[in-house]
Amino acid sequence: MFATPLIRNYYRYVMKPVFFTQDPERVHDRTVRMGSVLGSNAITRKLTKVFLSYEDPILKQNIFGIEFNNPLGLSAGYDYDGHVSKAMKEVGFGFNTVGTVSYHSYEGNTPPRLGRLPNSKSLFVNKGFKSDGAEVIAKRMDSKGLNDNIVGVSVGSSNICDVDTIEKAIADYISTLNIFKDRDYVKYFEINISCPNTAMTESFVDRKNFSSLLSRIKDLDVRQPFFIKMPNEVSVEKAWEIVQTAIEHSINGFIFSNLVKDRNNPVFDQKEIEKFKGLKGNFSGKPTFENSNRLIRHTRQKYGKDVVIVGAGGIFNAEDAYTKIRAGANIIQMITGLIFGGPQVVGEINKGLAVLLHRDGFGSISEAVGTGA
Ligand SMILES: Cc1cc2nc3c(=O)[nH]c(=O)nc-3n(C[C@H](O)[C@H](O)[C@H](O)COP(=O)(O)O)c2cc1C
Repeated sequence: MFATPLIRNYYRYVMKPVFFTQDPERVHDRTVRMGSVLGSNAITRKLTKVFLSYEDPILKQNIFGIEFNNPLGLSAGYDYDGHVSKAMKEVGFGFNTVGTVSYHSYEGNTPPRLGRLPNSKSLFVNKGFKSDGAEVIAKRMDSKGLNDNIVGVSVGSSNICDVDTIEKAIADYISTLNIFKDRDYVKYFEINISCPNTAMTESFVDRKNFSSLLSRIKDLDVRQPFFIKMPNEVSVEKAWEIVQTAIEHSINGFIFSNLVKDRNNPVFDQKEIEKFKGLKGNFSGKPTFENSNRLIRHTRQKYGKDVVIVGAGGIFNAEDAYTKIRAGANIIQMITGLIFGGPQVVGEINKGLAVLLHRDGFGSISEAVGTGA
């Protein structure tokens, strides 16, 4: 974290004002290309680490047998085609998810697929599982030397007309898992049952459909742990039903949660949300924060140590991250905070978390999990 204030100010006063006048998807593609170049070279990786990454033993944890250097990961939706998976460790992330990956390639929903709501600290998202397809992404990741990274793959069903029944969607998830499951560098899987932007009318949030999916996944004998990517706008009881069903199928990792749909969410600046009237899509960032925390808190209270929880939604600084951990998250993920704050925000959050843990007398981050529930 050698030059954090310098990078923060450069991002805030130079890069962000330029980026935020340009088309969000083009900016995103450009930063992904930059990340890919950074990751491809040992010298640029080393420099990135010196400038951005922060380490403190208080942040280390072992979860599902995986050694996490710090609790902050990159959420699904930033690196959906596996381009930047190598560089994220040096940027300072403790783990990073590629995807959501679908078996078939898909060029994405009709644009606009991305939008910015700066006053609401939120992004408009209508990607619909834009993907190069599992085979291409796996080959790309094979070439990156990821064995020392903690990289996971988020799996969803292909958003194409042919995949229009639950049976076909299950077969599609299984095909993608079959491609990745024997690749040693894949340390975990996320099962995305909560993408609100696809064409399927039936849903895996339905208990029967979810149960059928998990039974087929169980038959695969996958060695990696699974996390279920949970919807955001569900009741606590519905979330518990999903958790219970997963536990019955020997899966006990959960990510709370995905995007929000409700445009009456009180966090939105009303003038800003009006600009997205008539457009199909969902929202990240601050509007997701409270609901995600509520689901984390209730699930931790009910299931105690029987579940591993990843907290996602609306993390912009160390206090937000700490709130999620005190609510019951073991580890956390972000994406919108990175886009609004810049790459140095990852090290800043880790450093701030370490300060908060020391201040409150915790010996390690795992001691703080759920203490504010
Ligand atoms: C541009 C964008 C694309 C996303 N795509 C996916 C996706 O493909 N799969 C998924 O599980 N979540 C996806 N998400 C949701 C995020 O992983 C995360 O759950 C959500 O944005 C809340 O975190 P945040 O407030 O830190 O962004 C996406 C989010 C954004 C902003």
